[in-house]
Amino acid sequence: MTGSAVSTVVTGIGELVTNDPAREGLLGLVSDAAVVVEGSRVAWVGPAAEAPAADQQYDVGGRAVVPGFVDSHSHLVFAGDRAVEFAARMTGEAYSAGGIRTTVAATRAATDEQLTSHVARLVQEMARQGTTTLEIKSGYGLSVRDEARSLAVARQFTEETTFLGAHVVPGGTDPAAYVDLVTGAMLEAAAPYARWIDVFCEDGAFDADQARTVLAAGAAAGLRGRLHANQLTYGAGVRLAAELGLVAVDHCTFLSDTDVDALRDSGTIATLLPGVEFSTRQPYPDARRLLDAGVRVAIASDCNPGSCFTSSMPFCVALAVREMRMSPAEAVHAATAGGAAALGRDDVGVLAPGTRADLAVLDAPSHVHLAYRPGVPLVSGVWRGGRPLGAL
Ligand code: NIG
Ligand code: FE
Repeated sequence: MTGSAVSTVVTGIGELVTNDPAREGLLGLVSDAAVVVEGSRVAWVGPAAEAPAADQQYDVGGRAVVPGFVDSHSHLVFAGDRAVEFAARMTGEAYSAGGIRTTVAATRAATDEQLTSHVARLVQEMARQGTTTLEIKSGYGLSVRDEARSLAVARQFTEETTFLGAHVVPGGTDPAAYVDLVTGAMLEAAAPYARWIDVFCEDGAFDADQARTVLAAGAAAGLRGRLHANQLTYGAGVRLAAELGLVAVDHCTFLSDTDVDALRDSGTIATLLPGVEFSTRQPYPDARRLLDAGVRVAIASDCNPGSCFTSSMPFCVALAVREMRMSPAEAVHAATAGGAAALGRDDVGVLAPGTRADLAVLDAPSHVHLAYRPGVPLVSGVWRGGRPLGAL
C-alpha cells in the first residue's frame, strides 16, 4: 500500500457488512473478506483472496464484521438515576416529560468531574457494544452555566454535541421568558461547544412555534437543527422538521399520513428509538410503514436516565427487528449508515476506501445474529480510527 502510515490487513472476516452503495444489496455484503487499514482510514475492502499486502495482519477467525455503530441520539450528561420512576411505569404509571426536572436537580448539584467521569463510563459501555461514533446532548442543566458546562463535558468525548436547552421549561419559570433565555444568553454560552441544536417538541415541553423560534436562533448562531418530535402524541413537530429540511427528526412514534408524506418528500431521516418504547411501555414506531413509504430511517439508543437507560445499539437492533418489523439487514443498516446520515456524516457507518476504520467484530457468523441472539454480548472486538480498542 502507499503512504507512510502503518497498514494492517484484517483477514478471516466470514461476513463483512460494508454498507457501500457501490456493492450489491442494502448491506453491500462481502463473504470471506479482508479490510486493509492504513493509519485511521480504510484503504481497501474486498475478498481476502485478492487483498493487497500490508505491514501487518490481524485475523478475526471467521467472525462477522460490521461498521462500528453510529448512535446519533444520546443524553449522557446527567447525574442520578430514575430507577424508581421506571419501576412505577412498569406497574402502570405513564411516562411524562416532567420527570426530566428530577434529573436537572441532580445534574446541577454534580461537579464537572463527576459529570465527566459518568459520561466516560457510559461512553466505554457503548464502545464495548460496538458504538464508535456518538452524539451527546445537553438538556439536564437548563441554566446558562449548567447547559454550557454540560456541553463542555460532552465535547471531551465527541464532536457531535447538541444544545438541548429547550428540553423542558424549568419549574417556576415562565415559558416565554425561558425561550428568550434559551435563544439569548444560553445559546451564546452553549454555541462554542455545540454542533447541533435540538428542541423537545411535545405536549408538556415546547410547541411548534417555540421550536421554530429556537431552531431559527440556533441557525443564526451556526448550529444545525434536529428535533425530538411526535414521541408521546400526534403533533406538528415532524412536519416542522420536514418543512425546515432538517437532516433528522427523532422518535416519530405517532405519525399521520401527512407526516409520513412530508418526511418522504423532504428526505428528513426518521430516527427511531425503540429502547424508549421498551422502557415506557408505549407502542413502537411503525418502521415498516416508513420504509415502505420511502422514508429514510435511522436507529439510535436515546440513552438517558428517564425514558430509556440502555447504551446498547445491538439491543436496539434486536428491538427494531422484533417489534418494528424491520429486517435484520434494514436494522443493522439503520444503526450504522443510517445513524451516520442522521449526523450528516459520510466518513463513518460505511466501510469503503477513505472512510474511518471503525469496525465491530461479532462473535457470530453473520449480522443476523445481532437480532437472532438478543441480549447476548456478541461484540468481541472494536476498532476505532484504525486502532483496536483493546480490553473494554
Ligand atoms: O429523548 N424526550 C425527551 N427527552 C428524552 C427523555 C428525557 C428524560 O425523561 O429524562 C428522550 O426520551
Ligand atoms: Fe432524546
